[in-house]
Amino acid sequence: MKVFLVAGARPNFMKIAPIYRESLRHDQVRCQVVHTGQHYDYEMSQAFFEDLELPEPDFFLNAGSGSHATQTARIMVTFEELCLKENPDLVLVVGDVNSTLACSIVAKKLLIKVAHVEAGLRSFDLTMPEEINRIVTDSISDYLFVTEESGLANLAKEGRPAESVHFAGNVMIDNLMHQVKKIENSDGRKFSTFDLKGKHKHYAFLTLHRPSNVDQKESFSEIVEALNTIAMEIPIFFPVHPRTAKMKKQFGIEFSSNIYLLPPLGFQESLFLWKDASIVLTDSGGLQEETTALGVPCATIRENTERPITIKLGTNVLAGTTRDGILAAYRESLAKKSMGHSIPPRWDGRTAERIWESLLAV
Ligand code: UD1
Repeated sequence: MKVFLVAGARPNFMKIAPIYRESLRHDQVRCQVVHTGQHYDYEMSQAFFEDLELPEPDFFLNAGSGSHATQTARIMVTFEELCLKENPDLVLVVGDVNSTLACSIVAKKLLIKVAHVEAGLRSFDLTMPEEINRIVTDSISDYLFVTEESGLANLAKEGRPAESVHFAGNVMIDNLMHQVKKIENSDGRKFSTFDLKGKHKHYAFLTLHRPSNVDQKESFSEIVEALNTIAMEIPIFFPVHPRTAKMKKQFGIEFSSNIYLLPPLGFQESLFLWKDASIVLTDSGGLQEETTALGVPCATIRENTERPITIKLGTNVLAGTTRDGILAAYRESLAKKSMGHSIPPRWDGRTAERIWESLLAV
């Protein structure tokens, strides 16, 4: 069986890595990695392939940035050419980025089977581009691999046939467990942030890149006001996403000197910092899950989350995007730590194994 594993943006790379690794144990499967080029800077892309032990992509589509339509269309055109030439039996897409949407549509129209890993998540917020990507991808996928129970309920409500839905667990956590083991065997001296971390016993770790948080001056400024207040109590390590860097410059937004602005970091270096943080402040999807898996307090700077299990069982607190909301969630999240948390079902490091079991059983 010839399988295309599609990845385009940073959060995709860690999801395909365990699926690729596990595929090597099955002789009847041949996986090829298709990198759409949605993310292209060294720190956003190449550094991840190295950290995650992914092979060089077999195919690079060079899509680059642009409006949603431009980016999605570019990926669709080049991916269609590739599929027609290479004729894969299955296209496996992950997550909810524009590459996920583009490649699932192309494959389905060419009558190639589509598997969606991380299916069923819903924020119920259609102003979020990822929500549209999720709904469309799920509506046409042949195999739906779900990370948490809310996903099962959402897909059932949307009428997806039960036989196409598989409660496989979370591949992000497969990757996390693999990477944590590697980090435990190194003292972190190879990382550029080694000295900075050594200087601070307690610190917060921040990521912020969502268009709804950084693309308007007013909302971006209000969030930074809250962060600057938190920084009076605790230093914050902040790897800055290119989108955020661009908007910061455009709006002339000032960060407290107790917020260390860092370049985007590779997977391992980022993990090296956040795993020992007192708290993670984030608007990312994946970090909400990863912090829950390692029991690190997390305050999510968003109005909603498509990953409710991280609040119900895990360490996550939804902060909203106002100054007061973020400050309250920061305190609540630190307090929640003492109340304990549990790991969601099937976040056990064996999700990729279950995915291949299901795909090879048909
Ligand atoms: C994309 C995903 C988002 C994910 C995020 C993780 C969609 C709709 N969004 O958002 O779900 O959480 O990736 O990072 O797919 N840029 C660079 N170098 C790069 C890539 C981008 O400088 O390698 C800059 C460009 O100026 C670009 C901007 O960042 O315009 C945004 O990139 P884009 O891929 O459009 O969306 P993200 O905000 O990264």
